[in-house]
Amino acid sequence: MDSWRFVYEDYQPDQEGLREALCTLGNGYFATRGAAPDSAADGVHYPGTYLAGGYNRLKTKIAGREVENEDLVNLPNWLPLTFRIDDGEWFRIDQVEILSCRQELDLKSGLLHRDLRFRDGQGRTTRWRERRLVSMADPHLAGLAVELRAEDWSGRLTVRSALDGSVTNSGVERYRDLANQHLETLELDHPDPDTMFLRVRTNQSLIQVAQAARTRLYRDGTELDAQRRHQADRDRISQEITMPLSAGEGVVVEKILALYCSLDQAISEPGLAARHALSAAGRFDDLLTAHALVWKHLWEDGDIRLEEQTRGESGLKLRVHIFHLLQTVSFHTADRDVGVPARGWHGEAYRGHIFWDELFIFPFLTLRMPVLTRALLRYRYRRLPEARRAAQEAGYAGAMYPWQSGSTGREETQRLHLNPHSGRWLPDNSQRQHHINAAIAYNIWSYCQATDDHEFLYYYGAEMLLEIARFWASIATHNEALDRYEIKGVMGPDEYHTAYPDRDPEAEGGLDNNAYTNIMAAWVLSRALDVLEMLPKFHGHMLCERIGLRPEEVELWHEISRKIRVPFHDGGIISQFEGYGDLKEFDWTGYKKKYGDIQRLDRILEAEEDTPNRYKVSKQADVLMLFYLFSADELKLLFEQLGYPFAYDTIPRNVDYYLARTSHGSTLSQIAHSWVLARSDRAGSWDLFQRALDSDIADIQGGTTPEGIHVGAMAGTIDLVQRCYLGIEMRANILHFDPSLPADLGCLKVRLRYRRQILAVEADHDLLKISSCAFTANLVTVAYRGRFHQVAPGDSCQFRLLKPGERDRDENRARQGKTVLP
Ligand code: BGC
Repeated sequence: MDSWRFVYEDYQPDQEGLREALCTLGNGYFATRGAAPDSAADGVHYPGTYLAGGYNRLKTKIAGREVENEDLVNLPNWLPLTFRIDDGEWFRIDQVEILSCRQELDLKSGLLHRDLRFRDGQGRTTRWRERRLVSMADPHLAGLAVELRAEDWSGRLTVRSALDGSVTNSGVERYRDLANQHLETLELDHPDPDTMFLRVRTNQSLIQVAQAARTRLYRDGTELDAQRRHQADRDRISQEITMPLSAGEGVVVEKILALYCSLDQAISEPGLAARHALSAAGRFDDLLTAHALVWKHLWEDGDIRLEEQTRGESGLKLRVHIFHLLQTVSFHTADRDVGVPARGWHGEAYRGHIFWDELFIFPFLTLRMPVLTRALLRYRYRRLPEARRAAQEAGYAGAMYPWQSGSTGREETQRLHLNPHSGRWLPDNSQRQHHINAAIAYNIWSYCQATDDHEFLYYYGAEMLLEIARFWASIATHNEALDRYEIKGVMGPDEYHTAYPDRDPEAEGGLDNNAYTNIMAAWVLSRALDVLEMLPKFHGHMLCERIGLRPEEVELWHEISRKIRVPFHDGGIISQFEGYGDLKEFDWTGYKKKYGDIQRLDRILEAEEDTPNRYKVSKQADVLMLFYLFSADELKLLFEQLGYPFAYDTIPRNVDYYLARTSHGSTLSQIAHSWVLARSDRAGSWDLFQRALDSDIADIQGGTTPEGIHVGAMAGTIDLVQRCYLGIEMRANILHFDPSLPADLGCLKVRLRYRRQILAVEADHDLLKISSCAFTANLVTVAYRGRFHQVAPGDSCQFRLLKPGERDRDENRARQGKTVLP
């Protein structure tokens, strides 16, 4: 494989689901899994097409309760394309003898190739060379071009092309007992001899989706005048195109799709728009030219160039990650009311919902295409009224954003989930993860730091941040005895702990004083106070008046941000939550021996009628998230503000402690852990980074990727290389760098956007070079370990990087002075 081509050299039915997810093509408006065009959902294949933000709600009676889930709807399958010879069987990849098979995702131009040679039951050999795209140039267009060649037979070739609206949501085994019929067909038509038209509507959210597809046959560039037969049944429309083919001859079949929906802008109605767009669309190669050009430009903004010392494939894997991130969120997303889903628009896992994973996704976008972060933050802004309502209903002030968000911003976390190990439906308490609110505030703050986008802050960001601060102030209660503020009954990022061992997780669930939540709440309150200072006086005044913010509230924020409680145990270990230190140690060796893969210890223990609530076990980074989000300097200030000691060894001690007690049950876990090890254990960090790179590519969770990629882990790896290994930190209007490349990485080149400048940054083990590509007249300040440089547009500067011995001396000096470095 070169570092632009992601290739499979064979066909393996048991890997098909995974490959479909990884070969999904999308453009931020819609996405189609890389399923074979001749396939249907049958346990091996799962063709799926999803619209960004295309949700629908359905109710199901399960385990004695009625639950309502909002799902990302599987739209009509536009791929169906197959053929037969004379009156033989229709071609299905699973029913022929495969002579060769090569599937290649060309990342540079966003093209999927599937090249097959096969022999059918009657010994006839055929070659199928397919190219596929979902246009990045025009988000409503997609296309298939298949060259069919009769190698050693002559006969009547019939090609069948269809649009299939009979699909359901059945891509996730665990959800199969839940209602899954989201579509009703409204219209099937053949408006032209070569065109099929299908209009469906989601049955609750009433989103209309129209697909128009044109199928034509060509030889030597000339369209063939073939005989056509049209068919339509309840939910499916098809056409059969027949022509003679002789041995050695080939024919090219092109299927071009136009897809519109009733949520689209600048249209009259989706059906008209789809037919109109199709009639204006050129041939496949015309679509490809425009599409490849947009991808070329996207890579100019988005690529990362690595020189690996060993012959690794990190460069290719990172590009696969960038590719899928940009297919999930693109410029076509920017104008739409959608968030960034944890599992991409690549499958049905987590129902297309939006979680705190934005925290791992935004940093890369913000430093490359800030307009996308801005658009995604506006998704949150539009749901501020719903977050306010949620806070009010729960008895709090301000805005309480949901753990899982979909169409309206109400809490979409499922009420019940299935443990596939035990077969039991269990209450899902994860909506107690109010820390999502801190993540949203953190994202707003970081976006503003990186872009200096005052307009966003004035009109959207400040209001959200202040309302979130209000929520934290109202959920915190004062402990008179300690004169500290506490937050009770919540869950931290570690989803294994839902309640204290002796309590019912549903009725009296949650934990007290989750350190991550409390410290983040203090940070949010401090930033809210900063924001009030930063706003122009008249604007701040208007905002406070509009949201009715009273001076005594602001005073309380100040007080809580200095007095929130952080629990500790074992002399300096930050307790994940109050009482964590009293839990039992877990038998890691015994369980690894017994079960092998223990990433999902929650499911294993529940099936044994036990619970992780009793043990010191974490699914993913919780306390350690603090070291992921903040530099040592920043954390030290936060701890000092709260009146807690922050010793030099606080970070390494806590890292060692929690790393030994984490099962990495979430793909986000490797990212956070690799990050926190980057300075102290570069080899360990690189190992975890490699594992994170493989999260989806090797499906390390054993079966989750076919249900959708993990966008947080994908974006997290890119951000790790960029921000963590370059040591980027945006603080006090300065862009700090502190590169520390792992031994395996020789050199790293990126192009960043920072405060209206474009900076080309290159680092190896000796030198950091920063050059500004002329853009605007803004000066920006960059720094390397206390050495500052003002960069004007067109300027460049370089810093000689300290050798390890020099770094130690530098750090000792810093330790004796005011700052502490990790
Ligand atoms: C993780 C969460 C994450 C969610 C979606 C869960 O398994 O525990 O932290 O937000 O997946 O990616």
